[in-house]
Amino acid sequence: MGTLPLFPVQASTFAPEVDHLLYFLLAVAVFFTVGIFGSIFYFAVRYRRRSEHELPRPVHGGMALEIAWSVIPFGLSMVMFGWGASVFFHESRPPDDAVPIYVVGKQWMWKLQHLEGRREINELHIPVGRAVRLTMTSEDVIHSFFVPAFRTKQDVVPGRYSTTWFKATKPGKYHLFCAEYCGTRHSGMIGWVYAMPPQEYQEWLSGGPAAATLSESGQKLFEELACANCHKPDGTGRCPSLVGVFGSTVKLAGGGTVKADEAYIRESILQPAAKVVAGYEPVMPTFQGQVTEEGVVQLVEYVKSLGVKPAAPPTPAATGKR
Ligand code: CUA
Repeated sequence: MGTLPLFPVQASTFAPEVDHLLYFLLAVAVFFTVGIFGSIFYFAVRYRRRSEHELPRPVHGGMALEIAWSVIPFGLSMVMFGWGASVFFHESRPPDDAVPIYVVGKQWMWKLQHLEGRREINELHIPVGRAVRLTMTSEDVIHSFFVPAFRTKQDVVPGRYSTTWFKATKPGKYHLFCAEYCGTRHSGMIGWVYAMPPQEYQEWLSGGPAAATLSESGQKLFEELACANCHKPDGTGRCPSLVGVFGSTVKLAGGGTVKADEAYIRESILQPAAKVVAGYEPVMPTFQGQVTEEGVVQLVEYVKSLGVKPAAPPTPAATGKR
């Protein structure tokens, strides 16, 4: 039995940012609630009807008053909007050097995979003081990845990747919740995040049963599914070579281009006909139902390991993207 805290502990760099905004919103709400109810009681007493025959004096508009009660709330709501948007943008842009971790939600558990090969269920180990980027998807319905101590909540949606990131500031054990009603055992879809000093995290990563890295598992899947029969590395196959594809801009049949990111690789595995590479026939069968979302993640990492095109210098057209 401990105390009942009003707020969860602040254990990430976002936590103070989000809390300061919340304190501001609370202060504004308290100020106006007290002001409005105080005025109601004061006026009710001060201007109460004193005799049966008393008639109020008619009141005409007051321009100064009307301007004041329009401009002040407008200014306040704009501050809330601007402040909230800046926190939101900060939370939506993971830094480039973030540690990537993959998350798959399903009824009713969290499955997590580290690049180095360690896999966890309903537990996530992360280093303190380093940004961590989560790439998340769901095998069934919408879930939501919620770590109150980090002030992080992001929907996990079937059929697409969503991302979020955070940087833990304090070693410790923190609640992980599913924050989107997802069926009977939604309330049991919970777990723990263990934030560890970097040294301990490295030891944890290399501990546990010997496991293949994500890209090695992906390579194994690639061979099992006979992908290499068509995707020959030298480009002589019926399907394009995947060497150096990740991060590049792919020309599509019928015009247009697409940036080869995680979402594009995933789509090309599950719905190959959606975006066909220019110069190739749409001969690839779908692998929907043959690969799990975890398998897709491994294949994505394998494709990444085949080489990443260095990012092109930003052009005016591209700067607005992220
Ligand atoms: Cu998963 Cu609620």
